[in-house]
Amino acid sequence: MKVEQVKLIYFSPTGTTRKVVESIARGISVADVEHIDLTLPEGARQAIKPLSDELAIIGAPVYGGRLPVDAIDRLNPVKAANTPAILVVVYGNREFEDALLELKNVAIELGFNPVAGAAFIGEHSFATEDVPIANGRPDSRDVQLAMDWGAKIKNKINALQSPGAPMDLEIPGRFPYEGGVRSMVVSPVTQADPCTVCGTCASVCPTAAISINGSVATDIELCIRCCACIKNCPTGARVWEDETMKTIATWLNENCSARKEPRMFGIDG
Ligand SMILES: Cc1cc2nc3c(=O)[nH]c(=O)nc-3n(C[C@H](O)[C@H](O)[C@H](O)COP(=O)(O)O)c2cc1C
Ligand code: SF4
Ligand code: SF4
Repeated sequence: MKVEQVKLIYFSPTGTTRKVVESIARGISVADVEHIDLTLPEGARQAIKPLSDELAIIGAPVYGGRLPVDAIDRLNPVKAANTPAILVVVYGNREFEDALLELKNVAIELGFNPVAGAAFIGEHSFATEDVPIANGRPDSRDVQLAMDWGAKIKNKINALQSPGAPMDLEIPGRFPYEGGVRSMVVSPVTQADPCTVCGTCASVCPTAAISINGSVATDIELCIRCCACIKNCPTGARVWEDETMKTIATWLNENCSARKEPRMFGIDG
């Protein structure tokens, strides 16, 4: 099989997963790269035709050692025709636990043929300048690793005699899965003074939890704590005031600061 088209399929509220899958695609280096961005509600509604004769890169962040529920829901309408797929989870330097195994099983259900998998590190959604957790990741070193890995996978797939044969990809993780995000009904809040009511937070919210009508209102029940609104607010008006969320961020900062490196499976880095 000759790789001539690459389809990037991802859910990425704060953009780190997107950066990793794009870096892998740059390493694969084909002109025909299509994005299926499932992050926003409208992205999830786009018509997706069955994927064949191309290579897919499927990416999602790790939430509580698992895949985000919204990522699974939005992946579900994607149907593949034994399409080879590179699977990527991106986690905030704590652990990825069962998320990559879950992504492999979801991908197989959708008709993909997983050929390789990886867990990369991204700046933690809960990190701030004052409470850093893997800030700036993926950095230039991660990007280079992703590009080199993409190039290797391309060579391997191009050399396959029968590309449709199952690849028997071994991924660490437990089944039945454990973990998952702890249930909490909280959301970031908007500080009135610095808020210019620009609407950026509403435009990046993956669950349409934010509405703007002279001021910013958040439907707390819809919030998945992804922090896209905080990281994209141009004035720093969007913040966590919830004490439990602040305690979690401090714990991560104190216990998960030692740099972890990306891990690749199926085809080495
Ligand atoms: C609700 C929630 C749960 C998370 N759980 C984990 C986790 O279990 N392990 C971890 O290392 N990072 C965890 N993270 C951090 C994200 O996996 C990490 O920041 C990732 O880079 C975000 O991807 P994105 O930029 O594509 O949104 C969590 C983030 C959120 C919002
Ligand atoms: S992005 Fe920030 S400044 Fe803009 S409306 Fe939202 S909270 Fe206000
Ligand atoms: S309101 Fe909640 S779901 Fe929406 S962007 Fe902010 S943290 Fe994410």
